[in-house]
Amino acid sequence: VLSLANELRTRFSAVRDQTEALAAPLSAEDQAIQSMPDVSPTKWHRAHTTWFFETFVVLPHLPDAEPHDPAFGFLFNSYYETVGARHPRPQRGLISRPSCSEVADYRVAVDRRVAELLDRIDEFDDTTQEEILGLVELGLHHEQQHQELILMDIKHVLSINPTEPAYRTGFDRLEVDTSEPAGWTSHDGGIVRIGHDAGEGFSFDNETPRHDVLLQPFEIADRLVTCGDWLGFMADRGYHQPTLWLSDGWHHICGAAWDSPGYWFAVDGEWHVFTLDGVRPVDPAEPVVHVSHYEADAFARWAGARLPTEAEWETVAAGDAVEGPLVGEDPQAAPLHPTATSDSGLQQLYGHVWQWTSSPYVGYPGFTTAEGAVGEYNGKFMSNQIVLRGGCCATPAGHTRPTYRNFFPPHTRWMFSGLRLARDAA
Ligand SMILES: [Fe+2]
Repeated sequence: VLSLANELRTRFSAVRDQTEALAAPLSAEDQAIQSMPDVSPTKWHRAHTTWFFETFVVLPHLPDAEPHDPAFGFLFNSYYETVGARHPRPQRGLISRPSCSEVADYRVAVDRRVAELLDRIDEFDDTTQEEILGLVELGLHHEQQHQELILMDIKHVLSINPTEPAYRTGFDRLEVDTSEPAGWTSHDGGIVRIGHDAGEGFSFDNETPRHDVLLQPFEIADRLVTCGDWLGFMADRGYHQPTLWLSDGWHHICGAAWDSPGYWFAVDGEWHVFTLDGVRPVDPAEPVVHVSHYEADAFARWAGARLPTEAEWETVAAGDAVEGPLVGEDPQAAPLHPTATSDSGLQQLYGHVWQWTSSPYVGYPGFTTAEGAVGEYNGKFMSNQIVLRGGCCATPAGHTRPTYRNFFPPHTRWMFSGLRLARDAA
């Protein structure tokens, strides 16, 4: 237990520091804005991840612990009904106080308390030790999820500014001029096992239990759909052919007047894209990103293919290493945008875009939620959302795995979402 506590203490510092490194290029003004209800201010993410440790790790376990500030439980609870009332999500951008520096103080204070708890771990009985260590582990993976949210949310915030400011400057993007046409990886189908094995390291509850699934023979594209592919869809009036679209999707794109991916806009007839490094012309070789499930589904139909199911995706991905341009220790050195590939074989599983599947987000057979507040983490969102697989250019290294189930409503696209195609075997 002591070595596990020590290891967690080291990882705790690293993960907490990485959040601060992501926020470092942002001014206090940048960090306060909420540009739409789905987006949370950077300052809120920094405080909420701290609230998670304070509420679930420190206060219930450290005997003399008091809340850092009695108002923070109301301001920084995201969605946990079990722990009480909270400030409305769409109004997070109206909170000018606490200031960024007061949030920084909050982080330091809670960091000290978590470290103290881990130092004193041997004062607790076995069950409590296990509970504390499990909650710290969960808190770290929770904070890594919010690190990705910080990047996707600030991208939206900055994109609203008519001066189109970049999150950072000076990053040298690797140029890959060509991308080969997609090839196909085939699978014979049959009974396969998917989901996370209990005892094989950390997973969220929604990745379990591991279970059997029957697959028909299928093929899956060995690379992601590119901007060049997407320009073909647009040129063929893909956004204007109702027969390509799900009914909900057609209504959504008509209402939202979408005719291109998120963050695309035309300048003198040429498509440009807003990125965390600022605006530049669309690169046809790069994977397309910021498309909704509706758009991904329509594109796949137009291409004579379909989206993979999550079981198909996991089955082909399971043998491959989890690697790619994920966000490492120095976030400012990561591409923070999907990159093209000219390599052959199964490519771009991780570190580029979250890949839409055709699978609704529901519990696996035998799925149960934990008792208490932590049981609200995943299970209660299993309605009207779609699973995405992989991991994107904003995902922290070490945070994703083949069994990881991300999920979003089908009309959303402010996260780094893209697609790879699949089809039934001939
Ligand atoms: Fe959260």
